[in-house]
Amino acid sequence: MLTLGIETSCDETSAALLENSTVRAAEVYSQEVHTSFGGVVPEVASRAHVRKVDRLCVHVLRNAGCAIDDLDLIAVTDAPGLAGALLVGISFALGIHVGYNKPVTGINHLEGHICSALLEHEALTYPFLALVVSGGHTAIYRVDDFGHYECLGRTIDDAAGEAFDKVGKLMGFAYPAGREIEQEATRFTGKPELQFPIARVTGNPLDFSFSGLKTAVRYYLQEQDRDFLPKNRPLVCKAFQKAVVNSLVRNTLAASEKTGIKKVALVGGVACNGALRGALAEVFGKGLFVPSVRFCTDNAAMIARAGYERGRRHTTSFPRMEPSRQL
Ligand code: KG4
Ligand code: ZN
Repeated sequence: MLTLGIETSCDETSAALLENSTVRAAEVYSQEVHTSFGGVVPEVASRAHVRKVDRLCVHVLRNAGCAIDDLDLIAVTDAPGLAGALLVGISFALGIHVGYNKPVTGINHLEGHICSALLEHEALTYPFLALVVSGGHTAIYRVDDFGHYECLGRTIDDAAGEAFDKVGKLMGFAYPAGREIEQEATRFTGKPELQFPIARVTGNPLDFSFSGLKTAVRYYLQEQDRDFLPKNRPLVCKAFQKAVVNSLVRNTLAASEKTGIKKVALVGGVACNGALRGALAEVFGKGLFVPSVRFCTDNAAMIARAGYERGRRHTTSFPRMEPSRQL
């Protein structure tokens, strides 16, 4: 079964071709144009997708030695995401659907992230927990089977990646700032004296909150002399990163204790973070499954992987855009 995946929900344009569950070709174009704006500008993102989506699809087909006629399914992200950006991918997929009479399925972006853990890990069997940590989402799901997701906890305000990006902005880093904060943090080798508070959410103890942490960093920096930050960026980055990692690990451990499930898939852009990977590996050992970096950030291989599962189960569904569609 040949599945073409298309992802255009935010600021990455991506296409991938899977033969059954194996990636034959994959390409991602990251829209760097947003860096100068300090965040993703929806209108700019949509226009940039239009410029790239056709070429990326042609490239992956060519690299895999396939033609459109060979395709068995087109899988395209249809929610959640920026409306204009999603429309580019969906419309392109519908064009192939109409022009070549190929079946098409809509894929939830978060389901795609969860499936990214299956791309390289055959040992990841159901049930497992999925910690989805990206720029737009932070949640823990209980995954009992493909298509069976129960959200055990989610952020009540900022996503973990959003916290990295906002704190990065406070410290003068370009958007997105996650990678740079991690790199800066590794430059601090001592034991950080500095500790930022991690909010405990009342109500569901598996929920997250990161907006208080961002404010704590802002107030802390406001209290310092002007020459403090240039000399102490590594310390602040390390303390901030530690607070985020501790919160994510604490709730994932609590979710594991609550459900008795010891396998954890760590997915989404923040899953690139080495400190987070290391801390979860300490707790879950061989029970931790993390995709390669290229499959953590937004990509179409994960969308095609979810599409393949839907295709072989005959549970495909036509793309539909509903603003508040949750997984
Ligand atoms: O999954 P993704 O590509 O897009 C969304 O669906 O949001 O995630 C992007 C997020 C950004 O917030 C970025 O700062 C963060 O992932 N990120 C990182 C790292 N690499 C990317 N956060 C922490 N450490 C990293 N190494
Ligand atoms: Zn994402």
